[in-house]
Amino acid sequence: MKIAITGANGFVGSALLKHFAANDHQAIALIRPSAQKPITNQELRIVDYDDRQSLLKALSGVDVLVHNAGKTKTLQHQEMLTANLGLTRNVLDAVNSLPTPIHLIYISSQAASRPSNINEPVSEDEVPQPITSYGKSKAWAERLIREECQQAYTIVRPCSIYGPGDRDFLQLFKLCRFGLGMQIGAKERQVNMIHVQQLADFLLLVAANPKAYQQVFFATDNQVYTQAYIAASICKVMGKHHRQIIVPETVARQVFGISDMMARLRGKAATLNLEKLAEILAEAWLANPEKARQVLAWDPAPRFEELIMETYQWYVQESWL
Ligand SMILES: NC(=O)c1ccc[n+]([C@@H]2O[C@H](COP(=O)([O-])OP(=O)(O)OC[C@H]3O[C@@H](n4cnc5c(N)ncnc54)[C@H](OP(=O)(O)O)[C@@H]3O)[C@@H](O)[C@H]2O)c1
Repeated sequence: MKIAITGANGFVGSALLKHFAANDHQAIALIRPSAQKPITNQELRIVDYDDRQSLLKALSGVDVLVHNAGKTKTLQHQEMLTANLGLTRNVLDAVNSLPTPIHLIYISSQAASRPSNINEPVSEDEVPQPITSYGKSKAWAERLIREECQQAYTIVRPCSIYGPGDRDFLQLFKLCRFGLGMQIGAKERQVNMIHVQQLADFLLLVAANPKAYQQVFFATDNQVYTQAYIAASICKVMGKHHRQIIVPETVARQVFGISDMMARLRGKAATLNLEKLAEILAEAWLANPEKARQVLAWDPAPRFEELIMETYQWYVQESWL
């Protein structure tokens, strides 16, 4: 298949590009003119997303478009809307104007849905109730696609993605160098995770399966994790004895608030921000894996420690740690 990926120079996009190419697909990197070019020997197409002709040219001959470009953190709500909703509007208009069939796969987020209760995963058919401006912008982009897409589409909502190139989990790896894990508040919270290569495998199943058309799927590795387990696993692969520190919620609010304020002063969004804290403080983020299991036969073997080890080795090799 000829698969184009928007945002192909970012963490997820560059991993998808490599993985699709390694699986004998013709992967095409779509990046904007201002972007750092991905180090790739795949085809590169520079696209101006505000220019319909430029987008149509970039999509010519493409079978599947993975619309992955977007922002997970911004200083202003408007910037979030432009990156996630406005950009999707432009991509959708171009997809609808193409004279040939294309399958649009939209990389949304678990954040577009809602947090869950402990042991009570959320299903895809539940009405979205996002709690952050990031989640809202993704939910609105999803709605736009559901209501207006005239081609085959699939909406994929990944949970937290980790793997080589990711800067968010890097912060936790840095803490684990000292054998420390951090839990905010006394409650153990349950979350889902997915490694970026597992996400790439998931997308290939979606791309190959017409039963995935006009459907929404959560993408997880089908396991349930706690903050303590994640930190303990990272410490283990680093050969560190793990100690979990419980940070009171009031202290966390101050730390994340200061980080947010500093980010505004520097003019660059920070990983520790108040929206992130709202997500962390939710009871749980569990997605029901059943639909993906049944429709896509998605049932990956548990490989968390192995993939955490691989991620750690990558950070060390690239001198990120
Ligand atoms: N990371 C996660 O845990 C996670 C979880 C669930 C869903 N997602 C989704 O996965 C996608 C990729 O995330 P990521 O973690 O790989 O982020 P990333 O590393 O920041 O990459 C984002 C990519 O999107 C492009 N982009 C951002 N704003 C754009 C705009 N206004 N117009 C055109 N391109 C724009 C960036 O291009 P430039 O380099 O030119 O800015 C970059 O290529 C996002 O849609 C995100 O919502 C991520």
